[in-house]
Amino acid sequence: MMRARLVSLALIIVTLTAPFVAAQKVDLTIDVSRAGAKIDRNIFGQFAEHLGHGVYEGIWVGPGSPIPNTRGIRNDVVAALKALKVPNVRWPGGCFADEYHWRKGIGPQRVETLNPNWGGVIEPNSFGTHEVMDFLDQIGAEAYLSVNVGSGTPQEAAEWLEYLTTSQPTTLARERAANGHPAPYQIAFLGIGNESWDCGGNMTADYYLSQLKIYSRFVRNFNPAQQGKQQMLKIAVGPGGDGPRWTEWTEVVMKAWQNHQWSWDINGLSLHNYTVVRWPPAFASVGFGEVEYSQILKSTLEMESLINKHSAIMDKYDPQKKIALVVDEWGAWYAQLPGTNPGFLVQQNSLRDAILAALNLNMFARHGDRVRMANIAQMINVLQAMILTDKEKMVLTPTYYLFKMYVPFQDATFVPVTFNAGAYTRGDITLPRVDAIAAKDKAGKLWVEITNVDPNQRVEIEVSLAGITAKSAAGETLTAPKVDNVNSFEAPNTVVPKPVSAKVQGGKLSLKLEPKSVTVISVEQ
Ligand code: AHR
Repeated sequence: MMRARLVSLALIIVTLTAPFVAAQKVDLTIDVSRAGAKIDRNIFGQFAEHLGHGVYEGIWVGPGSPIPNTRGIRNDVVAALKALKVPNVRWPGGCFADEYHWRKGIGPQRVETLNPNWGGVIEPNSFGTHEVMDFLDQIGAEAYLSVNVGSGTPQEAAEWLEYLTTSQPTTLARERAANGHPAPYQIAFLGIGNESWDCGGNMTADYYLSQLKIYSRFVRNFNPAQQGKQQMLKIAVGPGGDGPRWTEWTEVVMKAWQNHQWSWDINGLSLHNYTVVRWPPAFASVGFGEVEYSQILKSTLEMESLINKHSAIMDKYDPQKKIALVVDEWGAWYAQLPGTNPGFLVQQNSLRDAILAALNLNMFARHGDRVRMANIAQMINVLQAMILTDKEKMVLTPTYYLFKMYVPFQDATFVPVTFNAGAYTRGDITLPRVDAIAAKDKAGKLWVEITNVDPNQRVEIEVSLAGITAKSAAGETLTAPKVDNVNSFEAPNTVVPKPVSAKVQGGKLSLKLEPKSVTVISVEQ
């Protein structure tokens, strides 16, 4: 009798605690024959602004530095970025771009100026045109330059592009050669202004449109190799939210583009959207719990409605989707770390940020027909960074590892995944428990990404596969004991990917996902 009572007591305890330990089950269906749009590798783009230690110390230490470098550019950072296969880097800003004058950053004598946007510090201009192009060459990425519309002139921007791209022996080309680069540079993307509705000059949509037409007309790329298919793509300033002010902005630019004449054109419209629950940013990047975890992830999912809203306007004027929606500033923006310069936007990067990045990249991939480029803010030491540095030390963040796990999705073909995501609830916030994307790479291999948002429960996944005879599946999972775990200089391997395998049987693939994890697996056939 006593024994029976003990057993039933044990059962009650198990039942009561079960919700916190039992795995949930989610079924996914993937039909590999139903291919969608290409996941443009440019959605994995980066952003490096002259802001805090994003460029100086993060990339540039100078040729005389004891930190190992190649022509002044950190070797450790270059090696880490090469592994990410960074497709493009947006430079020099951000708000900085609309106060940047390129001539101050070329030649043997650099002009020291100020950086009023970001801490009012001295801008040495030692990292300029040639240094950024060298850096891009070292990491194997394309240039996405933002020209100064706010405080510059069309002539200044046009001359910069002539200096960079002409192969004819003009005075500017000879100056470029004298500065060490006789061959013309290739510039893949050109941003015409930055947030011209705010730090870029507080312009109305109509005023910006008149500037856009002028810059688009006169800022030309002369590189003979870029006159055909490799043409430089011009990206206009787009919206920064979803209110009437922003929908009007998209309307004005897209409507004008629909009726544009031969003398001006654009290829992309930018969208800026940070994950920031309150402004000024108040959420901590370290030392938070499940409440803040769920609030931030809820906020990040608002990217979906923003993309939908602006895509719908673009569809009206551009049903053929010629103009890309370029999300060239996105990521988490938290309160700066105590003791740091408030103008330097220094924050840590936790497991939560890797999950946030996965959710955003999945949204971009699902909208791949329109969202063909994106740039996380920012690459090093600023906001949601890939890399943190402190003098000679370097640490790779959870977001870095997440981007590394997504490399196989670059230029892969999207394959739709159908699933019932289930729900994870914390207080008054309910989020989809699971998110997933799949894609076929150029070699025909299937890649599947599954995020378990739930920080408490494991999820048992069963994937029904059609259009493929799967033999085995394996990959990596990124998780950590706590949602706010970070990689520090002292403990750099707290949040790193670990190998994971999946069972394949009878056309089905099954695996268990850890709570708060991102898993990427490839399927062998
Ligand atoms: O990424 C930091 C700043 O955020 C950029 O300079 C600006 O474009 C945006 O407001």
